[in-house]
Amino acid sequence: MAATYYADPAEAESFAAALLRAGGGLPQDEAQLMAKCLVQADLRGVDTHGLARLQQYMTRVKDGLINPTPKLEFEEKTPVAAHLDGQNAFGFIVATKAMADAVRRAETYGIGIVTANHSNHFGMAATYVQQALEKGMISLVFTNSAKQMPPFGGVETLLGISPFAAGAPSENEVPFILDMAPSVVAKGKIRKAARRGESIPLGWAYDKDGKPTTDAEVALNGSMAPIGGPKGSGIAILMDIMSGVLGGAAFGGEVGDQYKETRPQNVGHTFIAIKPGTFVDPATFRERMDTLVQRVHNVRPAEGFDRVLFPGEPEYLLSVKRRREGLAFADAERKMFEQLQAEFGVKPLRLSETPLNLTNGQ
Ligand SMILES: NC(=O)c1ccc[n+]([C@@H]2O[C@H](COP(=O)([O-])OP(=O)(O)OC[C@H]3O[C@@H](n4cnc5c(N)ncnc54)[C@H](O)[C@@H]3O)[C@@H](O)[C@H]2O)c1
Repeated sequence: MAATYYADPAEAESFAAALLRAGGGLPQDEAQLMAKCLVQADLRGVDTHGLARLQQYMTRVKDGLINPTPKLEFEEKTPVAAHLDGQNAFGFIVATKAMADAVRRAETYGIGIVTANHSNHFGMAATYVQQALEKGMISLVFTNSAKQMPPFGGVETLLGISPFAAGAPSENEVPFILDMAPSVVAKGKIRKAARRGESIPLGWAYDKDGKPTTDAEVALNGSMAPIGGPKGSGIAILMDIMSGVLGGAAFGGEVGDQYKETRPQNVGHTFIAIKPGTFVDPATFRERMDTLVQRVHNVRPAEGFDRVLFPGEPEYLLSVKRRREGLAFADAERKMFEQLQAEFGVKPLRLSETPLNLTNGQ
């Protein structure tokens, strides 16, 4: 069985921040903020969007494709709406600042909406939903991304696998966190099958002529399938409207590919925060949310299921485990951390081959 290496989340955050400062040229506050976003993804099991991406992010900075020291300023459109030019900064920085501004507006006016352009990949969309939840807000998060999917019925890729995320707070139960890409699976699953020489289920991807395929290699040179045919394709188009068309970012297949292209991505995002207290007493809202969670939990599990979970709950349960046992990394990540720490002279990240027993949490 492949080895797993465990790291204290707090130490992983310091490690990532030190690297982003030393190798990425980010100021201390921004390095800390981005490191926190990456650790949140690893805590929730979205390992494809956590520290595993550090090397690639550092390469983009080294190649001059990311601006590590933007001077971000909001352009107010109305009291509830603003725009942020991301100045080609890391998407994590742009998104965190934009959601904070949307929340600030919602605190006063009941709703806040912020668009952003000239941004980059912002990682796990749920990060910004969690940020709004900390302030008791309902939120909607939109982003677009590089093309990987054809519109329904088409052959050529035009749409991004752009995750839509939404959240709502509860009182004693788990909050609602829906964070979903509009493709049937993440591309990483197809890469993994190709590496192992395995086939993929029909319905995950198409070949280069738009025909469904079970061959992972063929799929890598083809395109990804949207969830529910025209429905997933429609959601991906909505993401492009809300993120690219509305806020002045790239759209319709023009977002830069951070893996393949040496140009700024010009990703767009939109963040909407809604204060539940505008409509009902906030405590009543959270109690009603608890009731909804309990009603979902009380549904009799179908065959093959132990229990019925609320959206965001699988990731929440994993984050509880990982706060205790540590973040889990594979051997490829251990090697990448060693290489980066040597290259940039930062304090090595302590990794354990057995689960940790952390009592302090994070
Ligand atoms: N920034 C980008 O460009 C980009 C692109 C693609 C994906 N991503 C990120 O990748 C991550 C993975 O996306 P995904 O679509 O593969 O997610 P997923 O399919 O793992 O989960 C989608 C949603 O379903 C919920 N869910 C899963 N199992 C459940 C269950 N048993 N009961 C109830 N709810 C359940 C999850 O809580 C989540 O909200 C996301 O965090 C997304 O933001 C980012």
